[in-house]
This record gives sequence, structure tokens and C-alpha cells, in this order.
Amino acid sequence: MSAAAEARERAAQLRRAIEAHNHAYYELDAPTITDAAYDALFRELQALEAAYPELAVPDSPTQRVGGKPLAQFAQVTHAVPMLSIQTETDTTADGAAHFDARVRRELELAEAAPLVAASPVALVEYAAELKFDGLAVNLRYENGVFTQAATRGDGVVGEDVTQNLRTVRDIPLRLKGDAPPLLEVRGEAYMRRDDLARYNEKMLARGEKPLVHPRNGAAGSIRQLDPAMAASRPLKFFAYGIGAVEGWTLPATQRELLDALAAFGLPVCEHRIVARGWRELADFHDRMGENRAQIPFDFDGVVYKVNSLALQERLGFRSREPRWAVAHKYPAEEARTVVIDIDIQVGRTGALTPVAKLQPVFVGGVTVTNATLHNEDETRRKDVRVGDTVIVRRAGDVIPEIVAVVLDARPMPHPQPFSLPDICPQCGSGVVREEGGAIVRCSGGLVCPAQVKGALLHFASRRAMDIEGLGDKIVEQLTDGAYVKTPADLYTLDAPALARLERMGRRSAENLVAAIEKSKQTTLARFIFALGIRNVGESTARDLTRHFGSLAALRAADAAALEAVPDVGPVVAESVRDFFAEARNNEVIERLMAAGVCWEEAEGAIGLADAPAGPLAGKVFVLTGTLPGLKRDEAKTLIETAGGKVSGSVSKKTDYVVAGSEAGSKRDRAQELGITILDEAGLLQLLQGE
Ligand code: IVH
Repeated sequence: MSAAAEARERAAQLRRAIEAHNHAYYELDAPTITDAAYDALFRELQALEAAYPELAVPDSPTQRVGGKPLAQFAQVTHAVPMLSIQTETDTTADGAAHFDARVRRELELAEAAPLVAASPVALVEYAAELKFDGLAVNLRYENGVFTQAATRGDGVVGEDVTQNLRTVRDIPLRLKGDAPPLLEVRGEAYMRRDDLARYNEKMLARGEKPLVHPRNGAAGSIRQLDPAMAASRPLKFFAYGIGAVEGWTLPATQRELLDALAAFGLPVCEHRIVARGWRELADFHDRMGENRAQIPFDFDGVVYKVNSLALQERLGFRSREPRWAVAHKYPAEEARTVVIDIDIQVGRTGALTPVAKLQPVFVGGVTVTNATLHNEDETRRKDVRVGDTVIVRRAGDVIPEIVAVVLDARPMPHPQPFSLPDICPQCGSGVVREEGGAIVRCSGGLVCPAQVKGALLHFASRRAMDIEGLGDKIVEQLTDGAYVKTPADLYTLDAPALARLERMGRRSAENLVAAIEKSKQTTLARFIFALGIRNVGESTARDLTRHFGSLAALRAADAAALEAVPDVGPVVAESVRDFFAEARNNEVIERLMAAGVCWEEAEGAIGLADAPAGPLAGKVFVLTGTLPGLKRDEAKTLIETAGGKVSGSVSKKTDYVVAGSEAGSKRDRAQELGITILDEAGLLQLLQGE
């Protein structure tokens, strides 16, 4: 095949691919390819058409802007076509230099007059702005009144989205000041990232589909047939230019044009400057790039425009793109890659998190190999499967995430939908699905290596086994060195072994061994608390001890027996059952007891070994309403540390009810029963022993 024939074939192929991606992107709001990959196809086609001009047929996608209006919207023929903008993909400072060089060449060809009078080397003056990542719209104001909004469509004919844009709060419905008979304002409708996150939270809570990202969110909202739905979306708008104008003398520069639009009450982005020469442009590109994470909306590059409107006119257009403007991009933040595997990570609290292992891909300036999938629900919602081709996004410093699966590229036969395993991949213990929550947790608290550090620190803490000197650094060395895998292993440590650890003298090693030894003498309540059973805090551990009296009785208790304990509900009962259902947790307990850990078991349900002492010893409190100074849990802690107990309901056993504002039925009930009612001040007095 001849080179020309080969080019013709390739051009046809590229055109078909670009049309298909355009359809998916503009018509369906469901991109099938990253922006960068799309740009590459587009540039390849442009290059072919430049080399073989006969290939540049009028209906080539390079000859129009992309995207036909949806049939459902009325069509609007733009009074002045909405143009595209040339993209500079060299993301280094050279990108700015190339553009400046082009502009200078064009201008000097026309006329070699100095461009900035005062400047020794004639520097071209530019307006630099952000390249907002939303949807371009044209707003029409007739005699200052907002009359119509249209999307760009194919640049010549767009869609009438007046109803939807009317719902955007920062678009004025009437211009301020002396508005001309006709003014068309061009700009970008977009969404802030925080607004999108809040909106998505609401959607998820209602069980509805969230928006993929701000750009899709903005585009989808505007091309939404139901204006009430569009109104519920947090859309915003920035003006960056004009279309048709009648009866208005244009300012001399782009900078003044935007100032004038701002004076009419239109939102104009504050991040814009006037720059002289390419170095100042490149500085702006850099500076804004560094601030990307702090700026609350997405922008994928900056736009440079020759500042003088007269020079703009002189420069004119080349195939639908102005010669006086360029978009200088940042490194692509999205890329396509393949999910090689889905790993399960186990966190310190035992939560299982699926993580996608990716074929390494360069995105957002780094090579990405992992992307968190957050949890099982999220993975299912996005329907990510091993073998899938996915679009990965890494914006700023944020953790890479999977935006969407490219369903067309799913291998055949389809891989299995993802689900978390029933056992912990770290320790083989059963997992527990937390009711109502998306969280799946390993039940192997004491035996799971992923949880062992946390479990050990908790076990040794002052209110648990109270092992003095067993802090973060030492626990880290003990677990990393595999000296200790469960709390039971602590009781096998000897001083010579400990003395070999970093920053551990012979003396402190001996002290630690003594502290470990001393901890063997404990109380059942402390021991139960030390086990780190989920949802079993100090006071629940005491309640359980008081009620069951022995570890054996607690272990044998079924859900009903557990729920009979005051303040123990189904959640706590289930956590206790899950813990003792795991054989290896019981093994650890046996080993602890074999090592000599002991306590005096109460007879029946009385005689708590560490019966609380303090000014409120044995007193039962109920908290109700809002206290002026203390939070509910602060008050609870104060009462408990003074030896008192906080109960959820008022009964004859209640000694005091502490009532704040908006106290309701509990206060009434206390009055009925003749129980002392305290306010916050009264409680504080009591705590001081008065
Ligand atoms: S000026 C003739 N300025 O980029 C030049 N476009 O234009 C017209 N865009 O989707 C465009 N930020 O919506 C211009 N500050 C900015 C922009 C901007 C974003 C978008 C525009 C369109 C694309 C190409």
C-alpha cells in the first residue's frame, strides 16, 4: 500500500474512533477514554490532515468542535460561533514559550512595530486565566435581562438550556449598571469539589447514584431535561469572554473586558493576571499548578490570551481556533489502565479495605500502581472486577482512585463481581459485617497481625492491664521483630531479650519485665476491657463483670443473656459473641491464664474486685437534655471516674438525673419518682465532693 493510501485508511479509522468518543463524551456524558488519549488521537488526525490536505474533509471531526445537540433540547444557532481553543500539551515552561513564539512570528510578519512601548525587547502582553473544567455555555442578555442560555454543541448549533441555567444562583438574571441592548457572555458552568462531595453524600444516603466527578456533574446537570433536578445540583459559573454584542463599545483588552463583565455582576474568577512575555506566563502556569489542591474547583490547565483585543483581531483564526489563545495544560490527571488484582488490606482496627493493584500507569505526574476501592459497597457500585480496564484519576496530592470501569473493554467471559472474603486474609479469622455500615471487620482482634500493635497498646494501657513502660516504640519493635504476636507472648519475654531492643537498657528491660509480672494480678473488669472486644469499653466491661461474675459465665452467655445486662444492647452483645466465637481469641485467653494472669472471681454477681471509689461511688446517674458546658460523653467520663455509673433510663435505682435544656420525659419521670434532679452546676459540685 502507498503511503498516501495508508494515511487515508488511518485517517478514516481515527475519524470513526473520535466520533465514537465524542458521542460517548458529549451525548452520553459517559467518557470511554481519557482526555489525554483523546487528545492524542485528535492530534494524530490533525497531523495526517496537515500532511495530506485532501484528507481534511469538511465533516472531519477536526473541522468542528464535537458533540451534536440532544434531540430533546431546542436547538440554538449561535449568533457568533463558539470556537475551540488550541491545546499546548507540552506541560513544561516550553509550552508557554512555543505559544509566545508563534504569536510573535505572526505579529512581526504582519508589522514589526514594538508591542509594548516601554519595553526594550518588545514583549507581548497576555491575559492569563484558568482553564475551567466544566461545560462551556453562552448566556444571552437583552437590555440587561437574561433571556437565553445555550451549550456549545458543535460550535455552530447548541442546545437551549435556559431553564437549567436559570437555576444557577451566581448567574444574574439582570445585569447591574448600564447594560447594552445585547450582550452574550461566554463562560464555564462548573461544580466545586466540596459541593460535589456534599451532594454525593446526600445521594448515597438516599441510595441514589452519585456523580462521577465535577466535570461530568456539571455537564450532566446542564444537559438534564428536568430543570428541578438541575436546580438541586450545586452548579456555578465563571465568565471568560463574550459572543455577540450590540450597542456597546468594547474595552481595549481582555483584562478590561473581564473587569467590565464583573461590573455587570457576572462571576469572574479571581485567579487571572496580565503577563508580559512567556516567562510570566510560565510562572503563572507553575504557581497555579502548585495551588491546584487549594483551589476549590478543578481546572486542567491555564489559558493564555493576547491581551489587546485589537491584536486579537489582527491575529485572527486558523480553522476554527483563534491564533491569539492557547490552553496550556497540566499533566493528565486521568489515565486508563488494567486492574491486575484486588488485594485486601487489614487496618489497625481490623477493617478490611479492597485495594486495586494496577498495571503501572503515569498519571498526575507519578506512576500509580494502587488505587483504594474504599469498601465493598463502593467496589460493587463501581463494579470493578479483576481484569477490568479502568480510568484512574490522581488529582493534586490525593490518593489515586478509580473513576469508572470501561465496560466495553471488560474481558470475555466476564470476571466475577468482587466480594470481600469471609475470612481475614491476614489471620484467617472470621469477618464480621457491621450492621448498617459498609465496614467489614476481622474478628481476630488478638491474633490478627494487622491489629496486633493496636491490640497490644490497648492491652497494656493504664486502664487495662496497666503495664508501665510498654509504649508505642517498644510495641513496634516487638511486633516488627515477631517477638510478640499476641498479648500472651508478652508474658514469655525475659530481660536479656528485651535489653537487645533499640534504646532499651538493661535497667529498663528489667523494669519492663517487672511491670509485666505485676500486671498478672488484675481484676476481671480490667481483663475484659484489656481484651479489646469491639464496643466493650471500660464501663461496659464493669457492667459485664458485675452481671456475670466470672469469665466462664461471660463466655457462655448467649445474646439474650448478654442483653439482660443493663445498658447492653444487640450491638454490644453481638460484638461479645463474635469475639468469643473466634477459637484463637480463646486460645490467647487460655495462654494468658496459663502464664499466671489472674483475678479474684466474684461470687455470683457481686463484689467487683476494683469496686469504684470516689465521691460518687455506687451512685447511678441519668443524663438528659443538653448541658451548657459539658458534652454528654464528657459528663459521663467525669461521673465514671468519680466512681459513679451512668445509665440510659430512669428507674427506682437511679440516684440523680442531670438535666440540661430540652430535657424531656426522663426529667418528668425523675420528678414522678422523687429522684434528685441536678443541673450542670449541681453535678460539678457533687463531683467536688460537696
Ligand atoms: S476562551 C476563542 N477561556 O476551554 C476562545 N476557554 O475553549 C474561547 N475554557 O470548553 C475559549 N476555561 O469552555 C476560554 N478561561 C477560559 C476557559 C476556556 C475553560 C474551555 C471552554 C471550552 C474549551 C475550549
